[in-house]
Amino acid sequence: MYSDIITEQKKKYGKKLAILGHHYQSDEIIRHTDLKGDSLELARQIEKLEAQYIVFCGVHFMAESAAIVRRDDQKVYIPDASAGCVMANMAPAWLVDNVLTRILEETGRKIIPLAYVNTPAAVKTVCGKHGGSVCTSANAEKMLSWALEQGDAVLFLPDRNLALNTADKLGIPAEKRMILDIRGKGLQFDVQATKDKQLLIWPGLCAIHQRFKLAQIEQFRADYPGCRIVVHPECPPELVRAADGSGSTSYLIKYVDEAPAGTTIVIGTETNLVNRLKNIYPAKNIIPLGISVCSNMAKITEENLANLLVNLEATPYEDVSDAIRKPAKIALERMLEVCS
Ligand code: 13P
Ligand code: SF4
Repeated sequence: MYSDIITEQKKKYGKKLAILGHHYQSDEIIRHTDLKGDSLELARQIEKLEAQYIVFCGVHFMAESAAIVRRDDQKVYIPDASAGCVMANMAPAWLVDNVLTRILEETGRKIIPLAYVNTPAAVKTVCGKHGGSVCTSANAEKMLSWALEQGDAVLFLPDRNLALNTADKLGIPAEKRMILDIRGKGLQFDVQATKDKQLLIWPGLCAIHQRFKLAQIEQFRADYPGCRIVVHPECPPELVRAADGSGSTSYLIKYVDEAPAGTTIVIGTETNLVNRLKNIYPAKNIIPLGISVCSNMAKITEENLANLLVNLEATPYEDVSDAIRKPAKIALERMLEVCS
């Protein structure tokens, strides 16, 4: 029933409407999308879309990023604005500002903030104002290399695992990294200890990926000799090191697509995506490393998508004030430029 309503509304709006979906959305939603992708691919497409009405099926920071880079004639909507990201909530802008200001003022070093796209708009604003930028899991290596060239050190936030995994790939030695203790409103950690560091790391995490354990990888290696194991870089570093590959959701899809028929592939990421790959590639043996559902992604349902489409013009769209939007857009555009 909701599915019929969505189909009807899509017909009514035609090319004026585009429904975008992140890979962690359920099949029920994905089947209605005009475009699906990882965070980077979706962010890149917004401005190029012919559509004026963009409905973003994903979590809130994704819709908000779309609202930052949109054209003036476009409006961005999300079917349930309460679909947050637990990791994004771990780096509120006031705290990022406190920490960055302390380090800048007390060390006099040029610190470049680099925010994972999984952050609120106001954090991207801080990055834009301080010569920093944004990255996604698909371009973290490139963006961290870029950021290191812009100053004396980089403040990477909020994902500790992505920071450590990217630092491993770039060969940044352990003694040049420091995980910040942000307790006490960010006023507690030893600022002088940051002075000889290249990479200052916010201690945020994604609970969905943190749940996977090294013992699970070891068990699959024992049970399925010769299996391939790939994980998302939000997983802890010991898992990434033990896996055969790691990358964004699109990387994981490509890995499965390119593997020969008959390969057993164990995947460490959100369950909706792993189940979809299992259905799309029946000739390959796709196994989840463990079951781990993002409950926020799951807040987008056919019911709230149908309701939004029926009431589209009467629904408030994602709006970001100019004071937040302009510097945040600079930060996002730097990323799109560096990675063009
Ligand atoms: P991707 O950018 O790899 O799609 O990941 C976004 C995300 O939130 C993963 O948890
Ligand atoms: Fe956020 Fe983790 Fe969900 Fe991705 S999987 S949206 S990082 S909570």
